[in-house]
Parts: sequence; C-alpha cells; structure tokens
Amino acid sequence: MKDFLQKDTYAFAVSAAGRVNLIGEHIDYNGGLVLPCALSLKNTVYVRPNGTDKINLAWTDISDKITIDIARADSYKDVKYANYYAACVCAFKEKGLPVLGCDVLSDCTVPFGSGLSSSAAIEVSFLAALTLLAGQKIDNKEVALMAWRAETAFVGMNCGVMDQFASACGKKGKAMLLNCATLSCEYVPADFGDYVLVIANSNKPHSLVVSKYNQRRAECEAAFDFVKRFVDVPALALVPTDAFEALAHLLDPVLEKRARHVVYEMARVKEAVQCLKRGDVKRLGELLRASHASLRDLYEVTGAELDALADAANAFPACLGSRMTGGGFGGSTVSVVKRESVEEFKTFVSERYQKAVGYAPDFYVAEISDGITVFDPT
Ligand code: GLA
Repeated sequence: MKDFLQKDTYAFAVSAAGRVNLIGEHIDYNGGLVLPCALSLKNTVYVRPNGTDKINLAWTDISDKITIDIARADSYKDVKYANYYAACVCAFKEKGLPVLGCDVLSDCTVPFGSGLSSSAAIEVSFLAALTLLAGQKIDNKEVALMAWRAETAFVGMNCGVMDQFASACGKKGKAMLLNCATLSCEYVPADFGDYVLVIANSNKPHSLVVSKYNQRRAECEAAFDFVKRFVDVPALALVPTDAFEALAHLLDPVLEKRARHVVYEMARVKEAVQCLKRGDVKRLGELLRASHASLRDLYEVTGAELDALADAANAFPACLGSRMTGGGFGGSTVSVVKRESVEEFKTFVSERYQKAVGYAPDFYVAEISDGITVFDPT
C-alpha cells in the first residue's frame, strides 16, 4: 500500500466518537434509559477505493498492516487489530450491502481499554465509511445498529446498544437520553454551569472483561425471568422500585443485588435528567456518587482501581460527585469538578491513586462533540 500514512491521499474520511456515560450503567441491555455524551476523542478512518476485493488496513500508531479478503472476512475474527474491521464487514454483508475493496488508515485518539468505547468508535466510523463506499446515504441509527451487531454477533461481546448509539448519534454540547427499549433519543443540553466533566482513566490493564460482562448480563436475564412472573413489564429496568421491594426477598441473593442496582439506577437516570434540565449540578453529583456505590456493592463491577479513583475524586472538596463510567472492571471514572479547580483536582486524585495502586491515572476534560462526521482530507 503506497503512501498509507499520508492522509491527503485518501478520498474521504469519517470520524466517530468515543463516549462517556454520565449515568445509567449496565441498564442499556435491561431496557433502561442511559445518558451518554459523545467525546472529541474519536476514531477517524481515511478511505480510498482500491478496485480490488480486499481491504488493506493501516494505523497511524501501529506498524502492522493487515489485508482482509472480503469474501473470507469471517476468518479474521481472532486477528489482533483487524478483528473489529472484519466483524464490520460481516455485519455489512449480512444486511445484503456490497463491500467494496479499499485502503483504510485508522487514527484513534480514544485510549484503548479506557472504558470510553474505542471499539464502538472504530466500528461506527468504519461502517459509515463502508456505507459511503457502497454509494448509500449514512443513517446514523442504522450504522449504530450494524456496529452493535458486529460487536455482539462477530466480536462476541454481548453488549447493549449504548456505546454504538452514542458514538454515531451524539451531538455537540448535548447529553443523549437514549431509551434502549425503543431506541428513541432526547438531547439535553450538557450545561454544568461552573463545573466541567473530568474523565480519569485508571490505566488498569484489561483482563476477562468480556466474560465478566456477559456473566452480569446472564444474571440480569435470570433475575428478570423470575421477576416477570410477578410484575407485568417488558424489561428489568422498567420494574417500579415499590414493585421490586415487594418481591425482592423472594429472589436469589446475588440476583437480588444485580436487579436492585438496575431498578434504582433507572430511577437515578430519570432524576439526573431533571437535574440537568434545571441546572441542579449539586444533586446530579450526589446521584453520580450513589451510582458508583451501587456498581461497587450491588453490581460488583468496579474493582480496587476504580474505587480508588472515585474515592479520591469524591474526597476532593470542589468535586460534586464521581463514578465509574462504562462497563467497569477497569476503565475510567467521570467526575463533576469546578472548572477553576481542575488542575488541583488532577494532582489530588493522582497522588491518592498512585498511593493506592502504584501507577498514575490519565485525565481528560470532556469536550462533548458530534458522533459521525464526514470530511474531505485533501
Ligand atoms: C459497556 C457496554 C455497554 C453498556 C456499558 C455499561 O460499555 O458496551 O453496552 O452495557 O458497558 O453500562
């Protein structure tokens, strides 16, 4: 592949965003409401048709180059770096759409394993690019659904729809209230007054995330199978809290904890949206703290690193609240921090975190941006 690093030799470019979820964790696959924001951290694919039946992949930060034979895309599932692209080719073909040969240069600014959805950003940007190559118009929701299909059916992560929808459909300056049962979406101004969202990446090396995640999902399904015998709702997150309390004692103790998190996290999302709308950042911060405690004690997806990060942030006077964001077991936290105190916050949290776990976190002040964007790189 010639000039593969030279961005202006490509015909077009598509970016898709990483995301931070403000609140509503582990309830997307339970038919709940979630409140993510698309970030300016993103994956960009630079694409040019090459007239062959192959896709040549290159990256700005990895020296490997990998070629995918379009006809045999499903055989690249375990090829490091190429697996997400191969999964997208499979999902695209499954829709009956033509996949055209092309050269692709990927440039990802979402840190891998950060819990900020680098995989969704890769899938969404690449699927949007395949759509343009096939001469079709991009429908952001359709692309999100194809990316979700790529992740669940071909990568093997049994995730909900939140990350792909945030990555594709996010809007600058807005939090997205996504109803994961209906896929309808309301955009709420992400205005935190004198405060900003600070993301802290725990830099914890990832392990067994997929299997632990899939296990939580299975536990929720088992809990719902039981609960729906008593309450007539289509999904676990839609069980009212009082109906849940009436039957909680009948549930297996582990399933009771998982379901309790889901039911109350849903209530917190609804309240968080009202807080955003009326500018009550103080109460929003309290809800973030409660969400973290629930993910730690009931859903059990935080771990020592995320707890150390959230505890340090929550001990900082100019932080209204902090919680883990994303799937957990490592990844990042999100904190509502007074704008003028951000530097002091970073030092404070970093010192405490290093004392607890032995290495440093990274920080990003969230810049809330658009999901899919197409541009001409020449
Ligand atoms: C991961 C998944 C999402 C969602 C979150 C937890 O990011 O990809 O679908 O379930 O975890 O809220």
